[in-house]
Amino acid sequence: MKRILFYLLIALPLFTTAQQKINIIPQPVSLQQNEGDFIIDNNTSLQYNPADKSLQDAANFFSSYINHISGIELPSNIHKSKFVEFRLSKTTEIGDEGYLLNVSPSSIIITANTRAGIIYGMQSVFQTLPAIRTNAVLQVPCMQVKDYPRFKWRGMHLDVCRHFFSPDFVKEYIDLLASYKMNVFHWHLTDDQGWRIEIKKYPKLTSVGAWRVDETSKIWGDRPQAVAGEPETYGGYYTQQQIKDIIQYAKERNVTIVPEIEMPGHSAAAIAAYPFLSCSQKPQLPMTGGNYKDVSSVLCVGNDSVFTFMENVLSEVINLFPSEYIHIGGDEVDKTSWKNCPKCQALKTKLGLKDEEELQSYFIKRIEKFIVSKHRKMIGWDEILEGGLAPEATVMSWRGESGGIAAAKMHHDVVMTPGTPLYFDHYQANPASEPLAIGGFNTLKMVYDYNPIPQQLQGGYEKYILGAQANLWTEYITTPEYVEYMVLPRMLALAEAVWTPLSEKNWDSFNERLQTQFKDFGQRSINYCKGNFRADIKPSIQNGKLFASLFSEIYQSEIYYTTNGETPTIQSEKYTAPVPIDSTLTLKAVIAVDGEIMSKMPAQQSFVMDKAVGKNVVYTNPVSPYYMADGPNSLTDGVRGTVNVGKYWHGFAGKDLIATIDLGQEENIHTISIGCLQHYRDWIMMPQWVKFEISDDGKNFTEVQTINNDIPQNEMTAIKEFTANFSARNARYIRVTAKALDGLPKGHPGEGQPAWIFADEIVVN
Ligand code: ACM
Ligand code: ZN
Repeated sequence: MKRILFYLLIALPLFTTAQQKINIIPQPVSLQQNEGDFIIDNNTSLQYNPADKSLQDAANFFSSYINHISGIELPSNIHKSKFVEFRLSKTTEIGDEGYLLNVSPSSIIITANTRAGIIYGMQSVFQTLPAIRTNAVLQVPCMQVKDYPRFKWRGMHLDVCRHFFSPDFVKEYIDLLASYKMNVFHWHLTDDQGWRIEIKKYPKLTSVGAWRVDETSKIWGDRPQAVAGEPETYGGYYTQQQIKDIIQYAKERNVTIVPEIEMPGHSAAAIAAYPFLSCSQKPQLPMTGGNYKDVSSVLCVGNDSVFTFMENVLSEVINLFPSEYIHIGGDEVDKTSWKNCPKCQALKTKLGLKDEEELQSYFIKRIEKFIVSKHRKMIGWDEILEGGLAPEATVMSWRGESGGIAAAKMHHDVVMTPGTPLYFDHYQANPASEPLAIGGFNTLKMVYDYNPIPQQLQGGYEKYILGAQANLWTEYITTPEYVEYMVLPRMLALAEAVWTPLSEKNWDSFNERLQTQFKDFGQRSINYCKGNFRADIKPSIQNGKLFASLFSEIYQSEIYYTTNGETPTIQSEKYTAPVPIDSTLTLKAVIAVDGEIMSKMPAQQSFVMDKAVGKNVVYTNPVSPYYMADGPNSLTDGVRGTVNVGKYWHGFAGKDLIATIDLGQEENIHTISIGCLQHYRDWIMMPQWVKFEISDDGKNFTEVQTINNDIPQNEMTAIKEFTANFSARNARYIRVTAKALDGLPKGHPGEGQPAWIFADEIVVN
């Protein structure tokens, strides 16, 4: 009896003083937690130099947050027993946006060189406090922090054209950015399917270009084109007054808004409003989605009044937005209309330009000159490199990093935003159990591991990388809740990738800190993805033997797997080390948390052992550099593709796949097969037929069989094994020809355009 009481007596005080662990995202440069807490209560005042307007604004930002979560009103500059102080001072080691944060039981002191640093110090404090109004004590753990960002461009993009989001939601989005010290909001304001910014000189841009026939219930690529007379009820735009208000809101949070006005492509909405902007000058209706036939989406370069128009638009944009950078798009310009336009061709001849790429470069350079004349900098997507980069342009690299690398080597500034892993419209977890997305697969861990400085730029070119940004295109993202879901938690991983020094980054620590943010999201009813519950199965060769490594992104989880085709349970083998692969098999793996299986479907990966594994493949037509799978011999690596397009498939664009394999010596064989993928929406179609041939000398081939395709062309997703079975024969060389379609089938959004062939493995036995 007595002993229990004794334990209780010593245990209780330990519990009440147990210190809350500090879970700040992004992880600060240096953080030391000390004993004790600072309690924010009615005996707390704010201290700062009231003559400094920027500090007064910052203090208001702090007190309104505290008031929001507690109801406490913090007085300024009067004596109380405890205080929170904001100090501007010259501290060289923390730069423009850094801060020092010192929390003791009697004071919180935030020191910085600028108001931005003060705000970031506050954000770190807020992350230790409750996220919503409660009666909880406002307890800030004592700590000493020195912190500053690794990159100066820490961006998030939002496409408000494909679907429109209200001014209130845009503010919520900016708030989310600011909470994690992201400082650029790239506002994609104009595109084919909507013009969203009021331009006083050209009111039809919004009265016509901001509205379309409502086809929201249909998938983007399936939406029928508008027909004259149908009501145009979907849309919206931001008035200049609303924009000013949002810019001010962002400024208070140290977020710069970079507006994007797309040109010369992605301009169908502007052309619907003012048809003279296109080469054909034909009237057209606003687009409803991703189907476009006989719609102009490109501005005419050969018409001077188009430049006058765009410059007038840009003048209003520049007057509104204080941003140093103005984004002019520049991506995905279909140059067909320029080829057929007398005005564009006359200009090309007059300027002595070689091709339409140079015409595009002329357009961009002329716009840059205008922007520079207004004392701003132009930024555009990496296509602006084509035909010659404008002299002072900053490049946003989205088609991988290669455009960014090329631009940096030309001494131009770059923002990295490669599709993998920074397109947040891509899936973040198993597509089988996720809301429909545009495709791709960019998990939280992939984003966390992203380093904006590619290997190729180390040793002198690093300084041209301003930072990185994630993009959120909204073709498939129709609601604010879905925006939250796609951005959270991946934005937090990006925040750490662009803020925290490499030496302080640690995935396990991030994942642990993230759990606190998940609780906050839950309390604030913010939608977020609870994680990628698909185990990652990675083949690897060690000492000439094939292994499968398994990985889970889920905090404190376990992996169970089978190799006999059965669905794993928690009674199956628990993963502890790479699994050796010695025979043809399918490995299936699931993730469990606290003994409960979390994966709706097991991850699975098939492996084959056959006579072709490890053998060299020679292609008559080259493999697309975008779809190299795991290297040049992907068709003979023993690893099968999955319905996930990005993984283990070799892609060929519009050409036949002709692969010749040298088995190294004569072998007795009786079956050859090749696996192909159909992914209709991604323009990947089955070949028309596959021909299998064998040879003794690699020169004279004998056909053993041709297998015709039997997968219907409108089947959305299919994997087919084209297999030749024949009476056993000796051969050293195998040639497989997969015949490409003559073009995408009738009714396909890309009808008549080249189709892709995707193949994963050639199996020989
Ligand atoms: C882009 O994704 N077209 C920049
Ligand atoms: Zn033209």
